[in-house]
Amino acid sequence: MKVIAFGASSSIHSINKKLATFTANLFTSSEVEVLDLNHYEMPLFSVDREQEFVHSEIISTFISKLEKVDLLVISMAEHNGNFTAAFKNLLDWTTRVKLKLFENKKMLLLSTSPGSRGALSSLNLALERFPRHGAIILDHFSLPFFDENFDENLGITHPELKKTWLKKLRKLSDL
Ligand SMILES: Cc1cc2nc3c(=O)[nH]c(=O)nc-3n(C[C@H](O)[C@H](O)[C@H](O)COP(=O)(O)O)c2cc1C
Repeated sequence: MKVIAFGASSSIHSINKKLATFTANLFTSSEVEVLDLNHYEMPLFSVDREQEFVHSEIISTFISKLEKVDLLVISMAEHNGNFTAAFKNLLDWTTRVKLKLFENKKMLLLSTSPGSRGALSSLNLALERFPRHGAIILDHFSLPFFDENFDENLGITHPELKKTWLKKLRKLSDL
């Protein structure tokens, strides 16, 4: 199984990238590729600039990478209750080329933040929006208080949250 994982953030130290990467690597019999949104940075989307940039290799590369996977593990970062500008910008560009960006792609949606809601607003937006772009969302999980509940070597450390997270992953590893 081929898995692509990324944090929907351009932060170099993205906690969502860490959560997505750790989670994807638990699918041990899979080939995992982790994307960094910094490698897919586009100018700020505007219909006025669309023709100038829409044929960019950045867009076609990102689209073709998603086309070759069996499972997408995306962890949604949250800025002001919404997707990060970096992710929204990439979504805007890529969906102008391919509206069904996630066409028939199975997806595990995650989110985390340092706060109590674990970027739940961004996750809920994605749960509502991504199926419109063709995603088949198999499951979702939000991790609150990232700094207290995540260890780079161990993954999720909070006992109850860890149990829920692993249960969801076990279900998906039967794919
Ligand atoms: C401009 C800005 C707005 C933010 N707004 C929220 C928010 O609405 N909800 C939230 O949970 N965290 C918010 N945060 C904190 C982020 O969750 C935190 O920076 C987190 O590390 C972002 O994820 P990332 O590290 O994967 O980029 C905000 C951070 C910034 C810089």
